[in-house]
Amino acid sequence: MLSAAILGAACAPKGPQAIPADSEVEAKVEKVLKGMTLEEKAGQLVQLNISVLEDDTREAIDPAKLDRIIGQYKVGSILNVMNDHCHSREVTAAMVRQIQEKSMEKIGIPCIYGLDMIHGASYLSDGSLYPQEINLAATFNREYPRLMGRAMAYETRAAQVPWVFSPVMDLGRDPRWPRIWESYGEDPYLQAQMAREETVAIQGENPNRIDLEHAAVSIKHFMGYGVPVSGKDRTPAIIAENDLREKFFAPFLACFRAGALTAMVNSASINGIPTHCNALLLSGWVKEQLGWDGLLVTDWADIDNLFNRDHVAADKHEAVAMGINAGIDMIMDPYDPECCNVIIDLVKSGRIPESRLNDAVRRVLRLKVRLGLFDKPNWDYAYPEFASEKFARESYAAALESEVLLKNNGILPLKENASILVTGPNANSLRTLNGGWSYTWQGSADDYVPQYNTILEALQRRFPKVTYAPGVKYAGEDWQAEDASGIAAAVTAARGADVIVACIGENTYCETPGNMDDLNLSAKQKELVKKLAATGKPVVLILNEGRPRLIGDIEPLAAAVVDVMLPSNFGADALAALLSGDENFSGKLPFTYSKHINALHTYDYKVSEHRETMAGSYNYDAVMDVQWPFGFGLSYTEFAYANLKVEAGEFKAGDVLKVSVDVSNVGSRAGKEAVLLYSSDLVASLIPDVKRLRGFEKISLEPGETKTVCFELPASDLAFVGADGRWRLEEGDFRLSCGGQAAMVRCTETKVWETPNI
Ligand code: BGC
Repeated sequence: MLSAAILGAACAPKGPQAIPADSEVEAKVEKVLKGMTLEEKAGQLVQLNISVLEDDTREAIDPAKLDRIIGQYKVGSILNVMNDHCHSREVTAAMVRQIQEKSMEKIGIPCIYGLDMIHGASYLSDGSLYPQEINLAATFNREYPRLMGRAMAYETRAAQVPWVFSPVMDLGRDPRWPRIWESYGEDPYLQAQMAREETVAIQGENPNRIDLEHAAVSIKHFMGYGVPVSGKDRTPAIIAENDLREKFFAPFLACFRAGALTAMVNSASINGIPTHCNALLLSGWVKEQLGWDGLLVTDWADIDNLFNRDHVAADKHEAVAMGINAGIDMIMDPYDPECCNVIIDLVKSGRIPESRLNDAVRRVLRLKVRLGLFDKPNWDYAYPEFASEKFARESYAAALESEVLLKNNGILPLKENASILVTGPNANSLRTLNGGWSYTWQGSADDYVPQYNTILEALQRRFPKVTYAPGVKYAGEDWQAEDASGIAAAVTAARGADVIVACIGENTYCETPGNMDDLNLSAKQKELVKKLAATGKPVVLILNEGRPRLIGDIEPLAAAVVDVMLPSNFGADALAALLSGDENFSGKLPFTYSKHINALHTYDYKVSEHRETMAGSYNYDAVMDVQWPFGFGLSYTEFAYANLKVEAGEFKAGDVLKVSVDVSNVGSRAGKEAVLLYSSDLVASLIPDVKRLRGFEKISLEPGETKTVCFELPASDLAFVGADGRWRLEEGDFRLSCGGQAAMVRCTETKVWETPNI
C-alpha cells in the first residue's frame, strides 16, 4: 500500500518518452480537459460491454439504453464481447455510428469502441482470419505478424472500430495454461520480435496520428499472466524479480518502445499482489520508467476481483481507489455504469487525488485525439480489401509455413493413389482449426464460415480415395466431453485403408473454461489411436490443439506426426498441400513439447536440470527428455550448416557482434529453413540459462543452394538481470550456436546499467 500511495499521484512521465509527445495532440487534450465536469471525467474512465446497449434482437442499439449509458452516465468507452453470436461488419458499424452520434451530442467527446481481434477480424462474421499467434510464431517469419496485423487493423476500421485488444504477449511457458495459443510461444525474444511487428502493423508508423487504415493496440496482459502456479487461468503466479524484468517484461518493453498506445493488465497476481493494484509495475515500470503516456485498461471486471476474488480490498470503493491510484486509467466494468458514481465519490472524498483523475482522463483523451476521433467520430472511407482474396492468400501462406512436421518415417508425402482413412474428432471440424476467439469467444467457426474446408474436405479434394469414420466425436456443451462409440467402426474402416490420418487434439476453448486437470491427450482419443495402430496400418497423427497435450505413449505408434496447432480457415488446405508433397514443411515449434507430466520444461532451463549434466560436466547442446524441443521441425529436404563465424573474437558492452553461418539445401527439393541463433553465457553471477534465442531468419533454398545468413547481435542483448535487479553484462566467455555449429566469443568488460531497461 505504501508504494501505491507514493506512485499513485499523477504519473507525469519522467523517463525518455516512449512515444514522442506531439504539441498539437497535447493542446487539444488540454483544451477538452479544461471544459469537462467531474461527471464527464469519471465517465471517460469507464468501459462497458455492448450488451448494456443492445435491444432484444441483439443486432441493434436500444435508444433508451443509449440515453441512459451515454446521456446520463457519460460513459467513454464500449467493448464488444461475443459470447454466443457475432455481428457482421455492417451491423457493428451501424451500432458504433449510433453510439458516436449520441456521444458527440451529449458529451461532445467521441466514445472509443474496442474489439477482441485476436487472429485477424475475430469478431466480425464476414472478416478475414489468420492462423492464431502460436502458429505465426511457428513460421519464425516476421512477415506474417506484419500481414495479419495490417489486415486486422484495416478490417476493424472498416467496421468503424479504432481499437483492438491485441497482440497477446504472455509468455506461454506452462503448457497446462489454457491461453498459450493466443501468444507467440515460450521465448521472450521470439515473442518480443513478433509482437513488435504486429504492433507496428496495426498502428502504422506514427502513433500520434493513426490513419483510417490503422487502429490502436492494447498489448496484453501486462504481465506475467502466463505462468500461474496451478496451471489454471487467472490464478496466482510466483515470478522471481529478475525473470520478471528480463523475460516477462521484454515483449511489452519492445511494444511500448514501438509506440503501443494502450495496454491491458494481467487479470491475476504476481507474488501475492493482484496486478491491477500493483503500483510499482503499472505506474513505476511503465509510466515513470518508460515515460509512457498511453492508457492502461483493466481486464474484464478485474477491479471487482480485488474485493470479490482476491480480498485485498473490502468493497468496490476501496478497489476502485486502489486500481486508479496504482495507475489504471480505464475500468472495464462490463455491466455496471454505477462505477462512474463510485469514481465521483472517491474524487469528492479525496481518496483519488484530482491530479490522478486528470492524468487518467488526459490519457483517455490523448488516445482519442491520436486516433483522430474528435475530427471523425465516424468516417466514410472505402475499404476495398475487406475480406479480400489477398487476405485469404496471406492466411493460407501463413498456415503453410506454420504447420510443423515432427516425425516422418518415410510415409509422407502420401502416395497419390493411397486409400486414406480420415478419422478422429478433429477431422471434420472448422471450429477446431480456428480455436477460441473465432466469431465467438469460445470459437464457432462451423456456424459462420461453412464454405471453408475441414481436414476431411481438403483431403477429399486433393486425394481420390478418402473414406471417413470419426471414431471419437466431441459431444455436447463441455469442450472436454467426448463420445467414443465410433471406435469399432473406425477400426473396421482402417482395415481396408492403406494409411490412416488420425486428426486428434482438442475441441475449442478460451480463457478459464479451458482449464483442465490432465495435460495428457484424452484417454478416448489415445484408445482410438492404439486400436487403429493395432491394425498394422501406418498411422499419421495430425495434432490440432491449442497446447501440447502429452502423447508419449502413442507417439511411438505413429509413422508420422504433424502439429497443425490452430491454423484457421485455410489450415486444412495447407495441410493437404503439405501431406501430398505439393508444398514443403518449414514450421518449427515455438514451445517445448513435453513428454512427461512431471517434466514440463522450457528450452532455457538451467544446466544442472539436465540428467547428463548433474555430475557437473556442462553440455550446452543437451536436450531434456522432451517429446520435441523448442525450435524443432522437419522438412522434406535437408539442410546443412557450416562456417559459423563471429567477426571479432572479443567484444565490449557497446559493440555489435557480427555473426554469420552458411546454410545449404543438401536435399532434393526446395525448402524454407528457420535459422535460429542461440547464446550461452558460460559463467555468470546468477546461474545462467543453458541457452537463449538471440536471432532468427527464415530463408528459402533451392536444392544445392547455399546462403550465408548474417546476424547483427548487440552485445547488450547478452546481458541479464542480476540479483540486485540491474541489467549486467559480465566479463567472460560466451558460446554462440546455430544449427549444430558453435563459436566462442569473449566479453572483455563487465558493465552494469544504471537505467532499469537497456
Ligand atoms: C480477457 C481479455 C479480453 C477481455 C475483453 C477478458 O476476459 O482476458 O483477453 O480482452 O476479456 O473481452
